[in-house]
Amino acid sequence: MTGYFRSIEIGNLQLEGNVFAASMAGYTDCITRSLALNEGAILAYTVMISAEALIRNSGRTLSMMKRADGEEILAVQLFGTSPQTLGRAAVLAAQNGADLLDLNAGCPVSKVTGKGAGAAMGRVIGRLALAVEEMGKAGLPVTVKIRSGWDDGEINWSEAAHAAVEAGASAIGFHPRTRRQGYGGRADWTALKIMSRELPVPVIGSGDLDSPVSVLRMFNETGCRAVMIARGAIGNPGIYSQTRKLLTNGIQETPQIPEERLKIARFHLKAAAEEFGDKRTAREIKKHLAGYIKGWPSAAELRRKLMTASDIPALMSLLNEGNQSRVRLRGNVQRDG
Ligand SMILES: Cc1cc2nc3c(=O)[nH]c(=O)nc-3n(C[C@H](O)[C@H](O)[C@H](O)COP(=O)(O)O)c2cc1C
Repeated sequence: MTGYFRSIEIGNLQLEGNVFAASMAGYTDCITRSLALNEGAILAYTVMISAEALIRNSGRTLSMMKRADGEEILAVQLFGTSPQTLGRAAVLAAQNGADLLDLNAGCPVSKVTGKGAGAAMGRVIGRLALAVEEMGKAGLPVTVKIRSGWDDGEINWSEAAHAAVEAGASAIGFHPRTRRQGYGGRADWTALKIMSRELPVPVIGSGDLDSPVSVLRMFNETGCRAVMIARGAIGNPGIYSQTRKLLTNGIQETPQIPEERLKIARFHLKAAAEEFGDKRTAREIKKHLAGYIKGWPSAAELRRKLMTASDIPALMSLLNEGNQSRVRLRGNVQRDG
């Protein structure tokens, strides 16, 4: 029994565990959140939503925060520049069912930082604090997701995190890479360890969580109170159930076999097509499907075919075909997923 899977409080919310699904623009939607929750994630952040677009009340923006199947706590991530706009968007999110709000102060994309949002919000501590205060007026717990700084010459996670907490943040999500690092190099777990010791509120660790063992290691090495899994869950929602088992009772399962992953991939494809329609799904699902078959010997051919398939029936039949060829190969590659 390792006992790292624990309940945790974020503001007035009592969560029955501490393994969360991180937000990933281009990947996260209500289907991936539902898959994650179904596999045992306790909370799944929505994709980042523009505060400005939300207050313009565009239908598409509101649809990004649609509650997923089985989603008890709707955790809406907002990004923006003006604290007042973020505050107004927070109220709207609350009126539309949000239970928790997260401020994105970590997105490295130039289009976002160029407007002073995302990682650029984390650079201007006074504005960050004001944004947290304004968002707090919506009456929901607010979490803030930050990076370690802008670049190696501007490491400011400590000031940013303390200011956010003083302004009312109930937890800090920490991805300890700089904006300049983007998603490359290693995340600085030493910074995560120091932050976890320093802050009076829970720190949710992020960065390089690519397996259940890596999650266990992060808890063990940094003392963070919760984790959020990001790239490790792409095409691999089973990582949540496997992680929970490892954290709860030390059981280390072998990775899911390809047939199991293809079964989830088919479910994902069908659910996405029902939710978003065939056309949009055919366009957006391929990166997920590539994730489901990642790392298999001889996956290259199937990946190539998936990438060139143009509609849902073609994608589904490739996933079925993949299954059959995997079954034929089973003697050799039973546990290569
Ligand atoms: C494609 C992609 C999109 C992301 N989008 C967001 C986002 O919208 N909001 C956010 O807070 N983090 C976002 N992240 C950061 C992740 O949530 C996570 O903090 C980061 O990937 C580090 O974890 P990892 O090394 O385990 O992937 C994104 C990451 C990736 C790879």
